[in-house]
Formats: sequence, structure tokens, C-alpha cells
Amino acid sequence: ARVGILGVPFEKGQKKYGVSVAPAALRCAGLVEQLRQIEGLDVKDFGDVDTPKSPPSARVDNMEHLEQVSACAQALSVRVAEVLRDDRVVITIGGDHSIGVGSVDGHYKVNEDMILIWVDAHADINTNETSDSGSVHGMPVALLCRELSDYWPYLPTMDWQVPRFSIKNLGYIGLRSVDSYERLAIEKYNIPTFAMEDVDTHGIKSSVQHVLQQLDPRGEKPIHVSFDIDSLDALEAPSTGTPVRGGLTLREGINMMETIYATGRLRAVDLVEINPAIGTDTDRRHTIDAGLSILKAALGAPRRGTAPKGVLDL
Ligand code: ARG
Ligand code: MN
Ligand code: MN
Ligand code: MN
Repeated sequence: ARVGILGVPFEKGQKKYGVSVAPAALRCAGLVEQLRQIEGLDVKDFGDVDTPKSPPSARVDNMEHLEQVSACAQALSVRVAEVLRDDRVVITIGGDHSIGVGSVDGHYKVNEDMILIWVDAHADINTNETSDSGSVHGMPVALLCRELSDYWPYLPTMDWQVPRFSIKNLGYIGLRSVDSYERLAIEKYNIPTFAMEDVDTHGIKSSVQHVLQQLDPRGEKPIHVSFDIDSLDALEAPSTGTPVRGGLTLREGINMMETIYATGRLRAVDLVEINPAIGTDTDRRHTIDAGLSILKAALGAPRRGTAPKGVLDL
């Protein structure tokens, strides 16, 4: 299998310093080397997406740094499409979750039949009218879905992004902090959602299988997983800007990724919201290790290990 890595050192979709250093921190912790250890994997690091300077534009109410978010997502969309066209699974390392606009847009351009699994404590489906924070990392899903385009005012600098992805191809796992209008959207559009209480009821593996089954009963569509590290419990992944207790264990996260890998249809993974500037050294190490474990599981690393080839045949 072929894999391409893109870093996106971008943090203007939220208010805290530090998410933008995550790509460097993950590389420094051995991201590329560890993935190369997975048998049969051809790993290419495409480096960081440059986050272009953007001209100031008319500001939009309750939507901070829209023009920077837009410029970054536009550049990322182009790069994600390139990596996919090079016949590689694309791993996008954020950055905050506003970069999901770019990665999903780029993936959609290559695979119009893609399905999207948003793994997160939060639903990230606010608009500028429903958001309490004004931070765009709480809005990417609403920017992407064509069914929600009428809920937005005109967004200067966003003309490049025509929301064509259908909300019918979206599912959620791990939710436990959902704003009231986000809940309304989930109910109105009947989005397949396995919130933490559903994961408790069904277990992680059948939760994932249910979401996949509902989005793609015939099991033939390319899969995009947008993984927010805050889907994991705050004790397991403390270095993140909006931690929430009561989340997935790392083992559940790994099991989920192994289950999705096993479909053979995983084409794109985003790993976002790791903030190495938050917490102690131990917090930072745990959070980065958790992120690496999630990526390895997504790319087929077996927890049982791999025996050397041919030895038993001698
Ligand atoms: N719902 C909150 C908001 O709209 C929190 C969003 C957190 N998003 C994230 N990608 N961590 O601001
Ligand atoms: Mn989140
Ligand atoms: Mn909120
Ligand atoms: Mn998120």
C-alpha cells in the first residue's frame, strides 16, 4: 500500500497557541519511521502545506480569521487531491479541525462517492449564527455539506469552495459535547451518530460497523476519517484545546481504526487538534503517542506483531 503524509501547521480556526506545531512534533516523535515499519507500506512525506498570506476581506460576523482558514483550506484541498491521484492513502496532520474543510474538499474532488466519518467529542457543525465561540474549528462540517449551504451568509474568500458533499454521507463517532443547534442538525438530517452513550451500549466495533453499514450498505465507497484527538478521553489525550472527559479509550480508538482499515477502503485520515503546547511533558508525550497509535492502526499495523517471513518453511 502507498501512503502520503501532509502537514498543516495551521491554528487560526481556534484561539489557543500551539496546534500548529503538531506536524513538527509528530515527525520529531518518529511519525515517518514508525509508519515505514509497517509491512508492505510505501510512505512518502510530502512536507507541510504552505498556509498562504491572504488579503484582508470584509469580515463575517462571529467567524474569526475566515480568510486565513479559507486560504489554508484551499491550498490543502489541492495537495490532498494530488496525493490521492498519486494513488496514495492521504494522511493529513493538523492543525486545528478547520483544515477538515480543505482535506474533505480535496478528497471529494477525487472520489465523489466518498463517505465521511467524523470522530470527535464535538459535532463541528455550527454556523456563524449558532456558534458560541466564533471559532471556525467548530464549523467545518456545516461548511462542507451542501444541505446546509442556505444557512450561511455570503462568505468572502470562500468562493473556491462549492459545498457539494452530501450530509447523507456523513456519520459521527464519539460525540459528548454537542451544542443545541448542532443536535437539531443531527436530528433533522438523521445523521448516523454513535455518541459515547451509544458506544457504551454497542461497543466500539459494532458502533463503527453500524455507521459504515448505514452510510454504505453495499460496502463499496471510499472512506475518509476525520479524527479529532479530543474524541479520546481527556486523560489519554490531554494536550488538546477543548478536552472533554468521558471519551474513547485509546484501545477503542485503535480498535475503531483497525476495523475501518479492514474494509480495505480507507483513503484519507485527518489527525487534528493535538496541541503540544498544552499540559506537562508527560501529557504531551501521551497525546502524541496516542495520535501515532491511531495512525498506525489505520494503516494496518498488527498489534500481535509480524513473524519474519519464511522462517517456519525451512
Ligand atoms: N462546539 C464548540 C464550538 O463551536 C467546540 C468546538 C470544538 N471543535 C474542535 N474541533 N475541537 O466552538
Ligand atoms: Mn473536538
Ligand atoms: Mn459551543
Ligand atoms: Mn473537531
